[in-house]
Amino acid sequence: MITPDTIDKIMDAIRIEEVVGEFVTLKKRGVNLIGLCPFHNEKTPSFSVSAPKGIYKCFGCGKGGNAVSFLMEHEHYTYPEALRYLAKKYNIEIEEEKPTPEQQEAQNEKESLFNLSAFAQKYFEQQLHESEEGKSVGLPYLKERGFSMEVIRKFGVGYCLNKWDDFSQTALKQGYKKDYLLKTSLSKSKDHMLYDTFRGRIIFPIHNLSGRVLGFGGRIMVSDKNKPKYINSAESDIYHKSKALYGIYFAKSPMASEDNCYLVEGYTDVIAMHQAGIQNVIATSGTALSFEQIKLIRRYTTNVTLLFDGDPAGLKAAFRGIDLILEEGLNVRIVLFPDGEDPDSYAQKHRPAEVKAFIEKQSVDFISLKTNLLLDETKDDPIRKAWLIKEIAQTISLIPEAIARTIYVQKCSEMMKIEEQLLVAEVNKLRRQKHAQKAQSISREQDMPEPGPGHSPARQGEPANNDSQEKELIRLLLHYAGKELLFEVENEDKRMEEIRVKVVEFILQDIQSDNLLFDNAVCQTIFDAFAEQWEQKSLPGSNYFTEHPDPGVRQMSIDLLATRYTLSKNWEHRHRIYITEEEEELKPRVLQAVYALKLKKLEQMIDDNQRQIREATTGSPPNEKLLLELMETGRDLLSKRSKFAFALNRVVTK
Ligand code: CTP
Ligand code: MN
Repeated sequence: MITPDTIDKIMDAIRIEEVVGEFVTLKKRGVNLIGLCPFHNEKTPSFSVSAPKGIYKCFGCGKGGNAVSFLMEHEHYTYPEALRYLAKKYNIEIEEEKPTPEQQEAQNEKESLFNLSAFAQKYFEQQLHESEEGKSVGLPYLKERGFSMEVIRKFGVGYCLNKWDDFSQTALKQGYKKDYLLKTSLSKSKDHMLYDTFRGRIIFPIHNLSGRVLGFGGRIMVSDKNKPKYINSAESDIYHKSKALYGIYFAKSPMASEDNCYLVEGYTDVIAMHQAGIQNVIATSGTALSFEQIKLIRRYTTNVTLLFDGDPAGLKAAFRGIDLILEEGLNVRIVLFPDGEDPDSYAQKHRPAEVKAFIEKQSVDFISLKTNLLLDETKDDPIRKAWLIKEIAQTISLIPEAIARTIYVQKCSEMMKIEEQLLVAEVNKLRRQKHAQKAQSISREQDMPEPGPGHSPARQGEPANNDSQEKELIRLLLHYAGKELLFEVENEDKRMEEIRVKVVEFILQDIQSDNLLFDNAVCQTIFDAFAEQWEQKSLPGSNYFTEHPDPGVRQMSIDLLATRYTLSKNWEHRHRIYITEEEEELKPRVLQAVYALKLKKLEQMIDDNQRQIREATTGSPPNEKLLLELMETGRDLLSKRSKFAFALNRVVTK
């Protein structure tokens, strides 16, 4: 483990323009450097690097981050790999934390399990190619199924002799411990005797990202009702089924370069696709994708194409699993194979070019396919149609990207022959419900200011994208918290006096005195961090947020820190200090942001108040006391609103 101290040293040494500059040609433009974005195709540069802030941001595709996340994204490094790369670049000696004896032991044990698995893989492969039984039973089976020697070698396919304990004995003789043979489930024990788990089976080794063997799948060669077709390694300290993806080691680079991956069901499908020249293929071993597997895929691409054998019933069973993939922001396409065919059988019957053409031609986006399938079923039944609309809206509402949602709404409403607006309303309703649930689950200690009796603080259904005022305020904090604003105030002797107030002080004071809370939980987190640190009169550095453990905070701070403001024309006169145009008019900007946010909050309260008045009037008999109080509050709110609107207007038009 790299020590926190070393990580600090690395972070201090990083010059983002040098790190990114190794992969992207950067040119100076104003305070920023710009270049062609390495994450999407473009002809005019919209990829911008800010050296002082240590971040990059592409205004074309939206990717952004710091030097470490750049390496993780661009070079597909893990976090420690990126740190090691940077340490090397900046000649920083890496201090590794001495693990505790328990950690060391766990580490050693994992290493032993990996070593044993590597040994087993070599042993099985050798048995397949060199033993009599391998040559007379194993290889002919694979040949019969059409696998070439090249892919058999590439995937390290092997064979386990149909003998009681040949493998276990060999391993023991080589010094591998019985304990580890059992823990990797390569061997089983009966009456204190070890025997081989995979006896008489073809062995498919399962690799992790870096190519180390984690576990095995063993296929029987003749079908036998009493024996399972596959035996798989059990979960162990090195093999977690929900995290592994069969084929990922071979697929990862092609996944990134093709910006797509094919998801198939089994070992043989992956291998057959490779043989057909398609390498961006992975398999889940017959289960739905787990959250961890989706995250793993997303390191390389956001496009997944599921290859299904052509059974719509099976596909429908998979619908919910696919929802999870959409929810994580991946685009899902589906290829349905002809009845009874899977990618393996299809690839064995057709030439590679035909396989490729078939997949390209057949692939349809999941949501359209789902709409079509369900539409077939509902026919003209109006009740079923209402259900269908809800069902499709539910799926579309999962997509995090607003533009993608809009496109699907257009497409699907056309397919279902309904008004677009109907689907929009349903999708928005579902999204509001989801956000309300989320907001409630984030426990908040304080409430909104008390505008009057019966006020309900939790605003149900506040659209989440209506948080631009909140973000603007956070943006100003992130950029200018430590800058000073000049105010003229009347002192005790009735004389005008200039005082200087830091942006952070002004904003904190103003927001906190009104007990205002942010609807956007990420904004709240960032705001709270400023409040907390400012109590000690210190300020969080920008990398406090861009390297924050919460990915929402990282994303927002990077988005907000990246600016397109150009340099002030006056910058040279100002002692070569870089000043943006914005900074020259900071005070009105800050005032405007604070007023705009308060105005929005006031409007929310006014809405609430009016709703409560309606409710109080419709009660029988109407609650007159409450009604009077509510109307009083309402007047109060309205007069505050005009005050703020006036103030805001003055700042804006000044
Ligand atoms: N599987 C399993 N145990 C079984 C059947 C299947 O673990 N008894 C898993 C395997 O990972 C398998 C995947 O589910 O690869 C898909 O199953 P299936 O389509 O039946 O197997 P294929 O890999 O297609 O194998 P084959 O082509 O040899 O039938
Ligand atoms: Mn198959």
